[in-house]
Amino acid sequence: MANYCVNLAKFALFLLLQVQGAAASMNKSKQDIKRRIEELRRDVQHHEYLYYALNQPEISDEDFDLRMRLLQKLESENPEFVTEDSPSMRVGGQPSDAFQSVRHPVAMLSLSNIYNEEELTEFDRRVRDGLGGAVFKYVCELKFDGIAVNLCYKDGAFIQGATRGNGEIGDDITVNLKTIRSLPLKLSSPQPAPEIYIRGEVYMDRNGFRMLNEERQEAGLANFANPRNATGGTLKILDPAVVACRPLKLVCYSLWFEGIADKGWAQSKALEWLKEAHLPTSDEIRICHNRDEVVQTWQEWENIRSDLPFDIDGVVIKVDDITQQERLGATSKSPRWATAYKFKAERATTLLRGISLQVGRTGAVTPVAELEPVLLAGTTVKRATLHNEDEIERLDLRIGDTVYVEKGGDIIPKITGVDKERRAKDIQVFRIPDRCPVCGETLHRPEGEAVRRCVNKACPAQVQKSIEHFASRGAMDIDGLGESIVNLLISNGFIHDPGDLYNLKEKFDVLRELNGMGDLSVNNLLSSIETSKDCSFDRLIFALGIRHVGSGAARLLSRRYLSIDQIRAASQEELEQIHEIGPRMAESIIDFFRSPSNIELIEKLRNAGVRLEGENISPETQPLEGKTFVLTGTLKNYTRVQAGDRIRALGGHVASSVSAQTDFLIAGPGAGSKLKKAKELNVTIIDENEFTELLNDPAKIVEN
Ligand code: IVH
Repeated sequence: MANYCVNLAKFALFLLLQVQGAAASMNKSKQDIKRRIEELRRDVQHHEYLYYALNQPEISDEDFDLRMRLLQKLESENPEFVTEDSPSMRVGGQPSDAFQSVRHPVAMLSLSNIYNEEELTEFDRRVRDGLGGAVFKYVCELKFDGIAVNLCYKDGAFIQGATRGNGEIGDDITVNLKTIRSLPLKLSSPQPAPEIYIRGEVYMDRNGFRMLNEERQEAGLANFANPRNATGGTLKILDPAVVACRPLKLVCYSLWFEGIADKGWAQSKALEWLKEAHLPTSDEIRICHNRDEVVQTWQEWENIRSDLPFDIDGVVIKVDDITQQERLGATSKSPRWATAYKFKAERATTLLRGISLQVGRTGAVTPVAELEPVLLAGTTVKRATLHNEDEIERLDLRIGDTVYVEKGGDIIPKITGVDKERRAKDIQVFRIPDRCPVCGETLHRPEGEAVRRCVNKACPAQVQKSIEHFASRGAMDIDGLGESIVNLLISNGFIHDPGDLYNLKEKFDVLRELNGMGDLSVNNLLSSIETSKDCSFDRLIFALGIRHVGSGAARLLSRRYLSIDQIRAASQEELEQIHEIGPRMAESIIDFFRSPSNIELIEKLRNAGVRLEGENISPETQPLEGKTFVLTGTLKNYTRVQAGDRIRALGGHVASSVSAQTDFLIAGPGAGSKLKKAKELNVTIIDENEFTELLNDPAKIVEN
């Protein structure tokens, strides 16, 4: 049914049925046909409801399509029985030049927003004061992140639907709304008034949105930035046949008719009625008797937020009783009886102030978006990665644009789109420069790659990044050698590559005079540089910064080869024979040892006494081979890195999360969810003392 737009196979089946049906219908009287059409309409409407509103279909897509096509056929043969509310009329409208304006019978107000518990307390106090101490209830609902619409039903038939517009006047989008299959064109249950207005939200769920963008990408069209934009963009399309192919959904959350308050209605009753009338509603509805219950609801829903198949951006809190709502009244913009308690935004709109270029360790130039600072999921975001120039082109990003920034599953914010409507006319297209922004060398973009590279090995940016990498925790772990100190040492001409670090001790007196370096910090730095000479062989390999060789591959190489000279002597074919080392990595290793500056670096390290070889590995020295460990909590005598190194040195594997494959969980104080999971999975849990014992006598414990 979801693929209702195109389905040739079903159509063939339909033709067959049509021939049979045509013969049969000839015998029927007009009255029979009318009855049959009405029956079919009810039947199709019922199955649309089951499928689109309840998500519980009872018949197959094919079966549904056949019934719908039969209805269409009977209607086209008997035009005198065609009615506007027939489910066959969903895509009945013709493309138009513009939407008509509609004046809303009651202004479509917006909601005030609150962002924290204090503001909720304040809202609750105002409500209680406004009701003069009367008993009241709140209804809490999800705040759907879509496009608000107002639907008008007259004598049970859907006659008009409009956007909110400026609250007073909106666009008549009836033909587009009719294409939404969960929107009943005719209401079956009794109506409380001849004319009723229903407010709801049109949205796209994440899956529909993703599929729509995939289709657009295939067709070479620009992606929509987010489901809300895709919905807004779709509702503005003037051809309902196009709209019908978009995965729009509807959820209804309020009802209005003349005299609703006088008849003693409440929001909760309105929601029940909407459900009974087969309008799509949300199951997530809570009655709360006080502020604390609202807080609890808000917290619970914030927790389920990412599990929902669609976007929500908060909880709407409404006073239930409509007479009480009227007593509280509204400002010119929003009601005083309701508010939206927002979640921390995971998406924000901000200005793209500029695009800066970062040169990485391997010379790759990465564009970075410089943003007008904006609050996103509780933190201020000023920059976002743009990956490469293709991404800038894909997003059609220009400096000065208003952009959407999102924080998804990962922590790094990204730009997902541009609000083109807010783009200035004379805005310039952005082009990545041809030259390295740091050293001025011409940038190269190798065939088939999305990044441009600075090929100057002496480029200060590359030197800086490669020394930072060499000293980093997972590599030689040189404490006190962060970005600013590396910069200081380079700019003063003390170091040109990581090998120079080991000559720094001769410059003690000059170093202590450097800005920001005192005796103590120079001493500490020199001593950690000294200690690093004895770093394990795998760390040294990783520290060299060979392209594509991460810490895992470095470990594999250190097990296979006994020294750096042996790795240097290995052929591409030989390297590729190592499990998990592919042609790209092997080629990069070969390339690394071809470069004279890298050979010079290795010689500097050798002369300084840095360990360039591994320990002889034998089964006796690898007693933890095949065992997987996970670390949690804090250990007194080891950092995470040290503990991991010790395990790996004995052949064990360290994983980041507990699974059925985990053999041991090493749990220090402060252990949380990993400990819980390990208990559930019956994983052996050991404390720090047992861990030390295990390191001293691995065979004994592992056998147990
Ligand atoms: S009630 C008088 N309920 O939020 C207020 N609105 O920022 C009527 N929205 O324009 C709105 N979910 O588009 C209401 N459960 C819900 C909602 C909801 C989303 C939207 C609606 C409104 C906006 C206000």
